[in-house]
Amino acid sequence: MIAEKMKSYVENSSVIRAMFEEGGKMAAVYGAENVYDFSLGNPNVAAPVEVRQAIEEIITGEDPVMVHGYMSNAGFEDVRTAVANSLNRRFDTAFHEENIIMTVGAAGGMNVIFRTILNPGDEVLTFAPYFGEYRAYVSNYDGILKAVEPDTDTFQPNLEKFEEMITGRTKAVIVNSPNNPTGVVYSEDTLIKLADILRRKQEELQTVIYLVTDEPYRELAYDGVAVPFVTKYYENTIVGYSFSKSLSLPGERIGYLVIPDQVSDSEQVIAAANVANRILGYVNAPSLFQRVIGKCIDAKVDVQFYDKNRRTLYDGLKKFGFSCIKPEGAFYLFVKSPVEDEKVFVEAAKKYHILIVPGSSFACPGYVRIAYCVSLDTIVNALPYFEKLAQEFFGRNV
Ligand SMILES: Cc1ncc(COP(=O)(O)O)c(C=O)c1O
Repeated sequence: MIAEKMKSYVENSSVIRAMFEEGGKMAAVYGAENVYDFSLGNPNVAAPVEVRQAIEEIITGEDPVMVHGYMSNAGFEDVRTAVANSLNRRFDTAFHEENIIMTVGAAGGMNVIFRTILNPGDEVLTFAPYFGEYRAYVSNYDGILKAVEPDTDTFQPNLEKFEEMITGRTKAVIVNSPNNPTGVVYSEDTLIKLADILRRKQEELQTVIYLVTDEPYRELAYDGVAVPFVTKYYENTIVGYSFSKSLSLPGERIGYLVIPDQVSDSEQVIAAANVANRILGYVNAPSLFQRVIGKCIDAKVDVQFYDKNRRTLYDGLKKFGFSCIKPEGAFYLFVKSPVEDEKVFVEAAKKYHILIVPGSSFACPGYVRIAYCVSLDTIVNALPYFEKLAQEFFGRNV
């Protein structure tokens, strides 16, 4: 008999994952080239060549006992120093090795941080639409996730509603920029205002509110847009980062947390996060890929590839009459569904073998998410079918 809590997890199991499985089955029946699977954020760009070179150098040149062995729960010291130095160079920060904990991707990092800070019943706020896995990351530790309703004009955080929702039980706030699923980058102005609200509320309620910034898409920004580094704006910021997207390594499970010295009780938080990494069963982040990161810290995937996909898909869909905010980062388009119940649209798309995700999976019904981390051919070949969908739903030739 499985645990009560798992029953609801299984019942509400990820729609995105289910679609990904469905895409695999459809590809077996119709041929992969006839299935347009925009469901999962699984990068279609190869990892940079530096990654392969680093793997070869490490496995042929380094002591195999060290490469594959246990190390401190926070990770190899030299790798954490390399991460800290890279951040300091790029964002004018002053992190050192102790501020960095290597993690099993962003998902591992978020679990570590919520294990570290949440007591049962503590509330965590986030902004809809949001990555649905946050619900599990918070409820794993008996926290309660509450979503601030979206401002669908800009998809910047709705700060008025946010302020109203902060109470004495609010322990943390999650922000995610560049955002999954909207592709919006939170502006500096937004972050300054958000930080002011948090500071004011901490003072008023005499509490500590941690701002957890989930940043797997930090390097994926277009049109020269700057992605502000959040620790600059608010002292109690904890950063969760991942190389899943920036180096196209999602299956390798590698990322890091930054817990700055400025964070309230930082020494305790760092010590507890190290223990959490161990007792949650991660023990440490994968050793080979930690060493790879040490060598490839400033490497990046080809962002131009995603940018071309972004422009091709966005321009095509706009031409057919769909409405959608132009994404400035990540690799998702969040498109307004032509019918109120977006699941009807999602089902209609399936008959052309197009797989897209309903916005309700991100607590924002009425929209659909299209992940454009696919080949350009997939987008080009899917566009005529999006045109047919437009004709079907808008009832006119476009
Ligand atoms: C917003 C967001 N956070 C976290 C994750 C998890 O990333 P990782 O593969 O590093 O665990 C994802 C993955 O798609 C994501 O989109």
